[in-house]
Amino acid sequence: MINKPTGSPEKMVNPDYVPEPEKMNVKKGLEGCVIDQTMVSKVTPETNSLIYRGYPVQDLAETCRFEEVAYLLYNGELPNKSQLETFEKAERNYRDISKNNLQVIKLLPAKCHPMDSIRTGVSFLGCEDERVWDKTANEDKALRLLAKIPTLIAADYRFKKGMDFIAPDKSLSIAENFFHMCFGKIPQKEIVRAFDVSLTLYAEHSFNASTFTTRVVTSTESDLYSATVAGIGALKGPLHGGANEQVMHMMLEIGDPAKATDWMLKALDQKRKVMGFGHRVYKYGDSRVPTMKKYAQKMADLTGGQKWMTMYESLEDVMAEKKKIYPNLDFPAGPAYYMMGFEIDFFTPIFVMARTTGWSAHILEQAKNNRIIRPLSEYTGTAERKVRTLSER
Ligand code: COA
Repeated sequence: MINKPTGSPEKMVNPDYVPEPEKMNVKKGLEGCVIDQTMVSKVTPETNSLIYRGYPVQDLAETCRFEEVAYLLYNGELPNKSQLETFEKAERNYRDISKNNLQVIKLLPAKCHPMDSIRTGVSFLGCEDERVWDKTANEDKALRLLAKIPTLIAADYRFKKGMDFIAPDKSLSIAENFFHMCFGKIPQKEIVRAFDVSLTLYAEHSFNASTFTTRVVTSTESDLYSATVAGIGALKGPLHGGANEQVMHMMLEIGDPAKATDWMLKALDQKRKVMGFGHRVYKYGDSRVPTMKKYAQKMADLTGGQKWMTMYESLEDVMAEKKKIYPNLDFPAGPAYYMMGFEIDFFTPIFVMARTTGWSAHILEQAKNNRIIRPLSEYTGTAERKVRTLSER
């Protein structure tokens, strides 16, 4: 039965009405649904492969800097030397954030999670940009986010510790500059390299929950900043980006590598979801993990953090043996960021600083060939009934 769109109370029957099937084929969590086409990246779980614009992510991580990967995601091709120079110059010139935005970050409650600070800071960037509705400026807005998000994160980091803001340094790469803005110094090149590799590995991953969120928002013809704010909200959850923080909380809870096996057996016995394991798409292992694990091990060698890697091995072994479930990228990234010296609450914001590239690439793609995303649901509520007046109820 269909009401007239005029709101008339009388009912009419659509001549084309076909009764609903007894039971709709609900795909809980959209599992296995192909929602749209994309040229940005492809995950092939059977071969544990992930390609960005055709290039294997492991090769990009080992061969390129994060800036080159960002350019690739936005433009479809790796940059040549002069293209990279122009791109980096523009990115570096955009790193400053306004005094007002700094003030907003400073005024947030000290205990608010950094993901909430970044979400607010990005929202403010949208308010400040007069081109907010101008789709032709989307590529430039994406660059603006790439440049300014690290500054927002570092500002929040410093303010939460009661320290002064450190302005970005245009002579430094994105990775170097982030250490500079957080700690006032740049660590050994191996640590900067491991961080840069993590940004490449986190940059893009097809239609994951936060990227899909950004595409849904874009599909309503909303703006790039709003889509990014929504993406940050989706990434914050522990089943998605928030897992890298939970992994480190779990490792600290276990404390001693000798206790890891028993801890895992007990967790599985209690049917707990162990953070940093499992994936909706990968069932035989995450293509990004071997690279990140290698760099996490390098961090352990450099910083004396071997206990985290010993614990890693034990947890991984028990989970593989008992459940055939394997680590995802958040599992090595958590301890790697910890050994680099970052506060745990800042692990997911670092993920944002990388994933803004993938989000923007998808937002640009969605906006260019758009149709509003509007799925259906199977109604399981009360059958249609008569509305009684207040005195009748
Ligand atoms: N720990 C323990 N068991 C897990 C698990 C984990 N991390 N991930 C999956 N499983 C088990 C489930 O309990 C379920 O077992 P069952 O069939 O006996 O009930 C089975 O594996 C399928 O899991 P399911 O939750 O249906 O998979 P999903 O595709 O809906 O969820 C994740 C995927 C990533 C959300 C899920 O693996 C998870 O919560 N992982 C931990 C959080 C995390 O690391 N997120 C980052 C993802 S990159």
